[in-house]
Amino acid sequence: MSKYNFDKIIDREGTNALKTDALLSRYGSADLIPLWVADMDFLSPPAVSEAIIERAKHGIFGYTCPSQSYYDSIINWVGSRHNWKIEQEWLTFIPGIVKGIAFVIDCFTTKEDKVIIQPPVYHPFRIIPTLHHRPIVDNQLILEAGQYKMDLAGLKKIIDRDCKLLILCNPHNPGGRVWTKQELIDIAEICYDNNILVISDEIHSDLAFTPNKHVPFANVSEKAAQNSITFMAPSKTFNIAGIVSSYSIIPNKELRDKFNKYLESSELEEGHIFAYLAAQAAYEGGGEWLSEAKNYIWNNITFVDEYLKANIPQIKAMIPEASFLVWLDCRELGLPQKELVSLFVDDAKLALNDGVMFGAGGAGYMRMNVGTPRANIEKALDNLKKAIETKQTRS
Ligand SMILES: Cc1ncc(COP(=O)(O)O)c(C=O)c1O
Repeated sequence: MSKYNFDKIIDREGTNALKTDALLSRYGSADLIPLWVADMDFLSPPAVSEAIIERAKHGIFGYTCPSQSYYDSIINWVGSRHNWKIEQEWLTFIPGIVKGIAFVIDCFTTKEDKVIIQPPVYHPFRIIPTLHHRPIVDNQLILEAGQYKMDLAGLKKIIDRDCKLLILCNPHNPGGRVWTKQELIDIAEICYDNNILVISDEIHSDLAFTPNKHVPFANVSEKAAQNSITFMAPSKTFNIAGIVSSYSIIPNKELRDKFNKYLESSELEEGHIFAYLAAQAAYEGGGEWLSEAKNYIWNNITFVDEYLKANIPQIKAMIPEASFLVWLDCRELGLPQKELVSLFVDDAKLALNDGVMFGAGGAGYMRMNVGTPRANIEKALDNLKKAIETKQTRS
């Protein structure tokens, strides 16, 4: 019997939640089941809310510094959960991982420098460098037996002397891969030898499902440690994205000093009162919640897979090794992307992410967020089934 009620439907409308309150502006209708942006519809761990309420009762919200126990909570979490012994001086608060990517681009590259990404991948990996006028080089992932793997031979081929940065999604969004140690060693080797700095975005790391185990990139080899900037956060893990409490981990002193100086020049490394507090509360008191949430999410994933196999076999779920995002292969429906999106939005009344936004290899796919009560998923899949049946009888 779970201590937490993940089945409970909580109305988020009117709370300025992007997921619900931006439906009209993003999808043209507010009357959709929102299964898009990557936050969950579950209450965050009680430890987080209690710490925030307790602090709010104090009533003075002045300038705040990170406490020793804040740093310890991160060091202990990363050490115990991911077997990576990090030092306090390696850590710096950042106001969000997407912003962190922009800072690295700004700090370490110039306009001539190319940025390598491995699509289909989290769309800001393409959007942010593009907005900073950096050329993007795609090293598309290879789809093999229904799972993605990195194209290491392809990577070696596309590299030229202008490639200066590779952005790695570890674990991968939208495919949910937990990259193996060997894959990461190989990437580290190629990038180090070619003078390409690696950003390892590990925001989904705490959500790996057993038996998969997240491997921190910087911990796989000396080449990885010396040539990378890792970003982590409690935001996906504990559903506190709105609090913004990410951090960078940089073992290499030269890289760290340069990055920290860049941040300090605009006071970007200064967190805020609830960021420090919520991160610490989550890491210290959210462990049990997390294992139950992961259990619930895993059962949702299994449900989606079984439902599709039984009722909509033209759509196949890529079973994620981590996190609450399911990459749906809809290519067998044979619809042009615009019609596919319209089937989901206009006919089935569902708001998912259009696969095309994740770049090369995303056409024919939709990304479904299953961090939501089962009843929402059941309703969504029933809607989809009916919409497809209606479309088929019409044609
Ligand atoms: C891979 C990845 N990185 C970063 C983010 C967003 O991080 P932040 O809110 O800290 O910018 C997300 C959110 O979906 C994500 O999936």
